Amino acid sequence: MHTFTTISALAFVLLAPSVLSGSTSAGGACSPNNTHVDTSTHKLVTECDDKTFCAASANGTAGTCAPRQCRRDEFPWGYGASDALPPLCDRGAFCPDNGGGCQGVRGAGDACEKNRDEQCAPPRDDVAAALASGQNFDGAVCLNSVCMWANVTLGQGCVVDDTTYVDTGPNGQQFGNRIVRHNCRTPQLYCDTNALQCFPTKLLGEGCAMDQECRSYNCVGSVCVDPPGMPHEVKAWQYAVSVTIVVISMAVTATMLVMIHQRVRLRQHRELRDYYYEQISLRQSMFALHRRAAAGGGLGGKKYRD
Ligand SMILES: *[C@@H]1O[C@H](CO)[C@@H](O)[C@H](O)[C@H]1NC(C)=O
Ligand SMILES: *[C@@H]1O[C@H](CO)[C@@H](O)[C@H](O)[C@H]1NC(C)=O
Ligand SMILES: *[C@@H]1O[C@H](CO)[C@@H](O)[C@H](O)[C@H]1NC(C)=O
Repeated sequence: MHTFTTISALAFVLLAPSVLSGSTSAGGACSPNNTHVDTSTHKLVTECDDKTFCAASANGTAGTCAPRQCRRDEFPWGYGASDALPPLCDRGAFCPDNGGGCQGVRGAGDACEKNRDEQCAPPRDDVAAALASGQNFDGAVCLNSVCMWANVTLGQGCVVDDTTYVDTGPNGQQFGNRIVRHNCRTPQLYCDTNALQCFPTKLLGEGCAMDQECRSYNCVGSVCVDPPGMPHEVKAWQYAVSVTIVVISMAVTATMLVMIHQRVRLRQHRELRDYYYEQISLRQSMFALHRRAAAGGGLGGKKYRD
């Protein structure tokens, strides 16, 4: 809990300059005219705080900050642990950026909010299965705020949404992130930003200028590489070498143990044998002593008895 609080505080300090929502809470006045999308961050900016949206009055000139009616994320920004969260939208509906209430998905050609592919209705299931990829929502894409399907084939004209998101870092420096999205079939094709035609995506190791040109959607140092987080594939020979090393190690260990055991037994055997020899020689010398005593003792005994 303590760590969480520290992290949230840190996140707040870091994100505070880029979170552009206003500070007016529920019930306060706001101007719907001031609700706009920031030109550099492309985030929706309102005068209302993170838990409210600017609801316009009937004549549209004045507005009031009203509690949000829906949420997009499981854990929306700005809500505390004990705050009641607005509901998520059902399938076939979406929650707009301002959280003003669930709306039905839009058809191809209709308006959508930036980068919100899920606001667009996907094509029929069988078509969607062929078009769906990590770069669209079941085959639907929202490009330049218009819904369409990512169904353009090789060599045909395509639409690009070329957006640079500029954000300000914690120490004031600005960094941009250019994202190019298009309506070619992915991941097999990409839309060339000059020719505006669909071309085949490049395979691993081929040269590239942008992520979208790579089938792996990851262009690092002008070369298409595996996407980050991709599990490392272990090759057959690596398995074989590992298994061989394990088997050899086990065999060596077993042999060493057997040899040590044999040496210990041999030593014990020698000790035992030496002991027996010693006992036997002791007995023999005792017998010899007895015999000598018996041989010489006949006279002595007589003398003693006399
Ligand atoms: C809001 O914009 C409308 C037209 O776009 C204009 O008529 C109105 O005066 C503006 N209201 C404010 C408060 O700026
Ligand atoms: C718009 O409605 C508000 C109240 O909802 C009112 O105060 C304002 O005068 C109206 N403006 C116009 C131009 O009708
Ligand atoms: C491709 O998608 C558009 C909508 O973006 C649709 O109108 C058109 O019929 C589709 N073409 C094919 C061949 O499915």
